[in-house]
Amino acid sequence: MELRQALTQRRMRRAFTGEALDADLVIELFADSLRAPTAGHARGISWVTMIGSEEVARYFAAATDETWRSNSKRFEGLQRASAIGICLASPERYRERYGASDKASSGLGESLEAWPVPYWIGDAGAACFGALLLAEDQGLGACFLGAFRNHQALRELLDLDSDDVIYGAVLIGAASEHDYPSASLSRPGPTRQERVRRVKPQR
Ligand SMILES: Cc1cc2nc3c(=O)[nH]c(=O)nc-3n(C[C@H](O)[C@H](O)[C@H](O)COP(=O)(O)O)c2cc1C
Repeated sequence: MELRQALTQRRMRRAFTGEALDADLVIELFADSLRAPTAGHARGISWVTMIGSEEVARYFAAATDETWRSNSKRFEGLQRASAIGICLASPERYRERYGASDKASSGLGESLEAWPVPYWIGDAGAACFGALLLAEDQGLGACFLGAFRNHQALRELLDLDSDDVIYGAVLIGAASEHDYPSASLSRPGPTRQERVRRVKPQR
């Protein structure tokens, strides 16, 4: 598939058929997504994968609660994802990298508070977008889900004892026709063209 085609036809798909995916294919897809650049080549972005219905069920048990599961019209389709990658970002790796001699003059190695822009967040987004595009390229459906509920339970499930930030989750699987597109799509907002502008001419 052409890159432009993958880019323009990709949509978040929030319902899956439950068809099993080969574990190696899943791991390769998430590993390939890490071709996304990282600042200073810090490589502070990583994935924890959960593959197959039993592991996907464990993800939802930790990341959501009973109220959400019984009220969400999307849960039924989401829980039939074939695999989930949970994207982690390590701010400490970035701080360490920017404390190395070739970058020390940036001052960013001193503390995380010194960072006006937390590059690890941008890099995590780039890796997630890579995974979404690679899924599209494979003819699979995929969606990004925030991981802001039950943070502690999720940290325990993933066995995180470091300062890693859980950026969010990418679900992949064969897309079901019975999808629930986001209500956000119909909200009024600026067009893509309006979001690209030329700098003011110099006087
Ligand atoms: C950082 C980020 C967080 C998002 N969180 C969620 C989420 O928690 N649940 C969800 O259903 N969609 C989530 N989305 C998907 C957006 O709603 C979606 O990308 C947007 O509505 C545009 O739709 P499209 O990707 O299908 O073009 C998120 C997207 C991004 C980039």
